[in-house]
Amino acid sequence: MSRPVVVAGNWKMYKTIPEAVGFVKKLTSLWKESQVQSAKALLAVPFTAIYPTKEAVASLPLEIGGQNMHDAESGSFTGEIAAKMLLDAGATFVILGHSERRHFFGEDDAFIHSKVKKALEEGLKPILCIGETLEQREIGREHEVISEQLQACLKGVSSDQAADLLHIAYEPVWAIGTGKTATPQMVQEVHDSIREWLCRHFGKETGEKIPLLYGGSVKPDNLEGLVRLENVDGALVGGAALQPETFYAMLEIASSVSKEKERV
Ligand code: PGA
Repeated sequence: MSRPVVVAGNWKMYKTIPEAVGFVKKLTSLWKESQVQSAKALLAVPFTAIYPTKEAVASLPLEIGGQNMHDAESGSFTGEIAAKMLLDAGATFVILGHSERRHFFGEDDAFIHSKVKKALEEGLKPILCIGETLEQREIGREHEVISEQLQACLKGVSSDQAADLLHIAYEPVWAIGTGKTATPQMVQEVHDSIREWLCRHFGKETGEKIPLLYGGSVKPDNLEGLVRLENVDGALVGGAALQPETFYAMLEIASSVSKEKERV
């Protein structure tokens, strides 16, 4: 089954509003529909930049998203943001369970599960991040850790919701922002087992539809080798998504690999 190759940028805590708008203006000037039409472009920006970036992006098929949200509808949760607020500002998706949220802010699978359910209920696409630490890989527990995370975070999610909205990002914690990328063989093995899990859990038709992204030190130089792999449908990119030139270069690569995958 062919799925469009996705490049999802994650800006983390970078860029003021003028910097975000400047990025989009530059991206617009680089954009040639014929070169990127088969790729899917997403950009997760700081909350303050969602609305202005969305306005600035008007003519491009580029979806804007958030990097986190709370699971409650609304309430006394100082400093938090609700799914409805993200949608209201123009977001179509949200990154949930990123390892930086898990490690620096103590988010556990139970909380992430609740956020995934809320995002789906509101019609916001969750990009659920999962991945093992270096310690867990060194003792050969990566497959176990990943299936535990999937099990815990996707409990009770219906096949219909998953088919339309759910995205998964496999991000080995040891490869994020470190310059270390997992080898294509490591990525292939884990992505194959995630796909198997999804097909078992949601049924083959839905399981085959869900985009599986890889994340961790992805850049224009290594993107092609990764997204050529059968169950790798794109990348979640931090550092290399901060410059419009490199983000655009990755969209061009994604689009050409997407076209090849469509032909197979
Ligand atoms: P990186 O970040 O590309 O800078 O490694 C990826 C991520 O944290 O999503």
